Formats: sequence, structure tokens, C-alpha cells
Amino acid sequence: MDPLAPGKTLGILGGGQLGRLIAEAAKSLGYRTAALDSSPSAPALQVVDKPFVGAVDDAAAALKLATASDLVTLEWELIPVKVLEVVAAARPLFPAPSVLGLIQDRLTQKNFLRKQGFPQTPYGEAATAAGWKYPVILKRRSHGYDGKGQCRLASEADAPKASEVLKAPCVWEKLVDFKAEISVILARGRDGATAVYPVAENVHRNGILHATRAPARLPRDVEGKAVALAVEIAGALGHVGVMAVEMFLLHDESLLVNEIAPRVHNSGHYTLGGCAVSQFEQHVRAVCGLPLGRTELLEGRAAMVNLLGDLWEKGEPDWAPLRAIPGATLHLYGKSGARPGRKMGHYTVVGAAAETEFDRADKRLLQLRG
Ligand SMILES: Nc1ncnc2c1ncn2[C@@H]1O[C@H](COP(=O)(O)OP(=O)(O)OP(=O)(O)O)[C@@H](O)[C@H]1O
Ligand SMILES: [Mg+2]
Repeated sequence: MDPLAPGKTLGILGGGQLGRLIAEAAKSLGYRTAALDSSPSAPALQVVDKPFVGAVDDAAAALKLATASDLVTLEWELIPVKVLEVVAAARPLFPAPSVLGLIQDRLTQKNFLRKQGFPQTPYGEAATAAGWKYPVILKRRSHGYDGKGQCRLASEADAPKASEVLKAPCVWEKLVDFKAEISVILARGRDGATAVYPVAENVHRNGILHATRAPARLPRDVEGKAVALAVEIAGALGHVGVMAVEMFLLHDESLLVNEIAPRVHNSGHYTLGGCAVSQFEQHVRAVCGLPLGRTELLEGRAAMVNLLGDLWEKGEPDWAPLRAIPGATLHLYGKSGARPGRKMGHYTVVGAAAETEFDRADKRLLQLRG
């Protein structure tokens, strides 16, 4: 298959901030863009050439997007495989439906990883409480994100807390006492070539990513292991496009895989501004069949802090202090309706100030709140 030529249309299933940032990168490469989302004011629909309003799990709507596109990709992994197959029958679709099929259900994903021999925390299907290794975290098998549909139980005595989450099929995982959370963002091309970004170190709050710094503070051999794990996983899946592998770093410096995101990832936002080729442009390059670009940090380090709806409590935040930081860039996603926990934007800091800004992210957010 030839590379997608400039002037052709890249279609994106999903119209959130990830879709918007993919579309902006695609446009700067000379592509026309289309996106499908159920909300006409979705972030990506504001910037694409051809906005489509409809549900991403509606095969007819997805087919309309595909027909208006020359090649299709996605920004969200939970689109039903049946819908993806309809799209793939009409236009080239990357990543392939089979990749999404392995990842969508947490249990299938974990079983896939286990079969391939990748290290994970003990887990199982949570249909009954038998065999759970406390403390556990229960997670919905599908349709969980940002820590939604999860519940932590310290011991059997906590079991009543789980009744809400257990209304849908779940997995249990033994809670990990980690030293740090890291993620590896990589791109895999149609030809199997990979490009890996510097490992990111992530801090979560209430199950939502709060801040990322890159490079992660890791011994070289551990960094190498993390990268090797992620590259092997991408290869085993036959993934095409950008992918993130979230991992736990344990106190003995061993690594466990938490989960795979077969798409551009929040913890890779630092690459936009931090690296010559962002994860968004890299994703476009990978799916369109272009050579992958360079991934090193231009100024040695970068940090990213998420801006959640909570910050809008008293109205639009005061962005002046952010704009005054050398090397800081603000990205807002154009969402109206700032609800607590909703990702409204993020800022990145590159170069010398990145480390201190990562450490003082909480203070900075308080200051922006006004
Ligand atoms: N087994 C575990 N032990 C300890 N902490 C965990 C475990 N599983 C998840 N967490 C914590 O909860 C966070 C969210 O979990 P997970 O990544 O599984 O959920 P998610 O809802 O898919 O999130 P997202 O899609 O935003 O990455 C993790 O980043 C980690 O901080
Ligand atoms: Mg996660």
C-alpha cells in the first residue's frame, strides 16, 4: 500500500482532544481531515475539514466517515469491533480491528499479555470473590477510563463497597505497591519499524493522570527493559500507529505492565513541543505509511500537567502566570462545560524549568485558579 498522499483525507473515529491534536498534525502534513463524534461541538469537530456528527459505535455513522475519507484511524479504543470491521471493509483502517479486539476487554488484554509472558500483577475474573489476593482493585472489563468503574478493597471486609462496580463484568487485580508509574509511548509503522519516545514518569490523582515528566528517573537498564517490553508488545499485537504501555516500577526496580492504550496517550502530550516530532504527527506518519520521525527530547527534558475542569470553579482561570514561565505552552481543547475531573487542556514546560514545574504543579494549579 502506498503512503497516503498530501491532499487526501484522513478520517478519525472519535472527536475528543486526542482526535483534535491528531487532526492538527495531519493538517500540517498537508492532509485533509474528517472526524466523527456524537457532539457537534467536540474538540476535533471544531478543527477538521469534514465534521461528522454521529455515534462512533453506530456502524452507519462510521461508514459515512469512512466513505468521506481515504484512510481511517481512531482516537479511542472502545469502538465495537463490528463497527471497525465495517470501516475496514470500506477503507484502510489503522490500527486493525483485531488489535482493538485484543485490548478492549481488560480480561482479554490481560490474558493476551499473560500468554505472551509479559509481567503483570496477579489478576483474575471477578465473577466470584474466590481467589482474590487482597488488597485488590476491581476494574470494569470494558468502558473504564480515567479510573472510572474501579473500586479498591483492602480486605474481604470491604466487599460491600464493590457492589456498584460489580454490576458489570470486572477483573480483580492485586493492588501494586509501586515506586513510580511510567509509560512508554512508541509508534509502529505499517512496515513494523518502531520509534520510541523517552520513557515518561506519571503521577495520577483519583485515577486520573495529573502530571508527566520525561525522561523518567530510571536506571539505564530499567529504562531499556521498559522500552523492550513495549516494543515487544506492539510487535506481538501487530499494532500500527502510536501506542502507550503503562507500567508500574516496583521498589526492587522490576516492572509490571498495567495496561495498553492502542492510540496516542495523555502521558505522551509532552512530546508536543518537547520533541521534534510529536506523538500526534508520529501517529499520522505511522498510519499514513510515512517514515517515522525523531523522538528525542529537544531540550533534554519536558513536563506536562493536566488542566481539569475543577480549575474552572471560579470561571476561566488566570493564565498570566503560566504564560510568564519560559518554555511553557498552554493547550486548551475548546470544550465548553468544565466539569470536575474533565480534561479541559494541559500545559507543557520544556527545558530547564520542566523539573521544577513538575514538582510545583499543585502550587501552580492553585495560582491559576485565582
Ligand atoms: N493494580 C494496581 N495497583 C495499584 N494502583 C493501580 C492498579 N491499577 C490501577 N492503579 C492506579 O489507578 C490508575 C488508573 O488505572 P488504569 O490505568 O487501570 O485505569 P483507566 O481507567 O484505564 O485509566 P486511563 O485510561 O486513564 O489510563 C493507575 O494509573 C494507577 O495509578
Ligand atoms: Mg491507565
